[in-house]
Amino acid sequence: MKFRHLGRSGLKVSEIAYGNWITHGSQVAEDTARACVAAALDEGVTTFDTADVYAGTKAEEVLGRGLRGVRRESVEIFTKVYWPTGPCANDRGLSRKHIIESANASLKRLHTDYVDMYQAHRYDHETPLEETMRAFDDLVRQGKALYIGVSEWRAEEIAAALRIADEMGLDRIVSNQPQYNMIWRVIESEVVPLCEKEGIGQIVWSPIAQGALTGKYQHGAAPPAGSRATDSRGSFFITEYLTDDILRRVQDLRPVADEAGLTLAQLAVAWTLQNPNVAAAIVGATRPEQVRENVKAAGVRLDQALLARIDDILGPAIVRDPALTASPRSRD
Ligand SMILES: NC(=O)c1ccc[n+]([C@@H]2O[C@H](COP(=O)([O-])OP(=O)(O)OC[C@H]3O[C@@H](n4cnc5c(N)ncnc54)[C@H](OP(=O)(O)O)[C@@H]3O)[C@@H](O)[C@H]2O)c1
Repeated sequence: MKFRHLGRSGLKVSEIAYGNWITHGSQVAEDTARACVAAALDEGVTTFDTADVYAGTKAEEVLGRGLRGVRRESVEIFTKVYWPTGPCANDRGLSRKHIIESANASLKRLHTDYVDMYQAHRYDHETPLEETMRAFDDLVRQGKALYIGVSEWRAEEIAAALRIADEMGLDRIVSNQPQYNMIWRVIESEVVPLCEKEGIGQIVWSPIAQGALTGKYQHGAAPPAGSRATDSRGSFFITEYLTDDILRRVQDLRPVADEAGLTLAQLAVAWTLQNPNVAAAIVGATRPEQVRENVKAAGVRLDQALLARIDDILGPAIVRDPALTASPRSRD
């Protein structure tokens, strides 16, 4: 495994991080979830990502059990707050009330006294940013969160948070968690330049487009049994990648992957890590073999000619519009 600093912070993360959205407490049984965590640890993954909202809060519990017995100092646990975790008006968003309550609940479910990274899962248009930043800073001062970060925030939202942190003497964001892969490149024009300047690293999600970049989905054919596209909880999210155009182009990437000595999944993960502002790619898995395959993308260097061929093949399927980074206008 290779490690990178998360932005300009002192924290190092494994280039391949493991995340449990859709899988733990939902798509996969607990023994499989634990086998995936064990495979990740065995392959040298130290960075684990979850969220209070995943599987209606069950995912944190599964990860907590999966990491039981592991030396706490040897792993970095990342979780998040924003999406609803209960039925009440204050069970969501980035108010002081919900941040403090949700952080305490996450720590219990994860069986830990602190998380290494606490992330705002989206921007909250209904809460003053000063309130959010102060609540995050309080968690850092209490030792419950060691670092703070955001997810899917626009460049101007990150800039505003940094300004407030500097003015109020609060802890600064060191991490952003955006969707980023060969198709979805919306962070490149605005978020990444700002983050490079401000010392914020990207820990990116869906590096293989939820499985679409593995080549296992074929245009004109039914999705393979057991895949995310066939899962009642996961199929909604992957649909946008399963167009005939994208699936044809992904098959055309196969010779490129072969030449690089990689599988398509490894090529996709390695591609995200070519961006120097990316600290880690968070991979998901429903089977330990997927983890073992995908971690081999760590440390891979792809040359410029190969990257240019990928761009040519994907062509108009690549999405670059920075306006597509957007949080809900309302929490309801
Ligand atoms: N901050 C956010 O808003 C946000 C949003 C989404 C995700 N995330 C984070 O990012 C993590 C990863 O997201 P993701 O699960 O969408 O990532 P991904 O790595 O792009 O997709 C993972 C899925 O692809 C399939 N797969 C993985 N490796 C494979 C292989 N080698 N061959 C064939 N199929 C393979 C598996 O699904 P099947 O076997 O079911 O097909 C697996 O669950 C999440 O767990 C979460 O921590 C964050």
